[in-house]
Amino acid sequence: MFPVTRPRRLRRSAPLREMVCETRLAPTDFIYPLFVRNGKGVRTEIGSMPEQYHLSPDTLVDEVGAAVEDGVRAVLLFGIPDVKDERGSEAWDDAAAVQTGVRELKRAFPDVLVVTDICLCEYTSHGHCGVVRDRQVQNDPTLELLAKVAVSHARAGADLVAPSDMMDGRVGAIRAALDADGRDDIAILSYAAKYASAFYGPFREAAGSTPQFGDRRSYQMDPGNAEEALREVALDLEEGADLVMVKPALAYLDVIRRVKDTFGVPVAAYNVSGEYSMLMAAAARGWIDRERAILETLTAIKRAGASILLTYHAREAARLLG
Ligand code: PBG
Repeated sequence: MFPVTRPRRLRRSAPLREMVCETRLAPTDFIYPLFVRNGKGVRTEIGSMPEQYHLSPDTLVDEVGAAVEDGVRAVLLFGIPDVKDERGSEAWDDAAAVQTGVRELKRAFPDVLVVTDICLCEYTSHGHCGVVRDRQVQNDPTLELLAKVAVSHARAGADLVAPSDMMDGRVGAIRAALDADGRDDIAILSYAAKYASAFYGPFREAAGSTPQFGDRRSYQMDPGNAEEALREVALDLEEGADLVMVKPALAYLDVIRRVKDTFGVPVAAYNVSGEYSMLMAAAARGWIDRERAILETLTAIKRAGASILLTYHAREAARLLG
């Protein structure tokens, strides 16, 4: 009790503060998301996401090279197709942008961890994450398509595939397809608890994946539900997920903590586009200190229980920590 106990004693100097620091970020925590499209020399800034770009495979290699210089060791690729159709068939085309990007990255940087997002919404003409019939997203017919996408990405050299569609049973379907293709060493990072969130807004502009009708609430989770997140995670782990993700991060820190405490597995959290763009917009106006806000945000996500942080701030944060 005061006056014997004085917590401020341990805050008096930087060495002391650092010694008692409970949560330390490291560049190895980060996965850096990137958008790749076909072409050459493409580097187009995404309007809704300042300092993030659409890249072609060659400029992707340049960007990842620069990120590696900053200390980043892992990337997540999203593909922008040339052509969208009802089923999103470019998603499993071995010559599509993501597959080409993976091959070129693996050639240039064999030691960089390459994760690919597995979903159809960037590739479908209707912008939904699965096959649509009568304006409904069909679960089971979508599974075989997702499995084809995962196998195509793995064949291109992806180290880790990350299904983000929220269909039931997709982790099991992808695991079975990878194993049947002789790829039992490719891990699955499941977007296990993915909420129907307003914070994906900037991404949908970046990926051109805004649903043409309806919304994603028939497959993504209701923001009010946490118990359900635990059930989703349990199912994905039973189906063979190696890592599980909570998404978005900031409005769901309690969910990250509960998943961590309940399952004890490595938990990933996605600091999504809306979280990124809000911070960047406020910083651009001088309303918050950009560097401190980035590190505080990422520290909060890690403190909540995530050990893998997917963030568009990855390069800058790695530099700041470097
Ligand atoms: C695809 C997907 C989305 C994001 C990652 N994968 C968008 C969505 O579900 O609408 C969002 C990423 C971000 O906002 O940064 N299903």
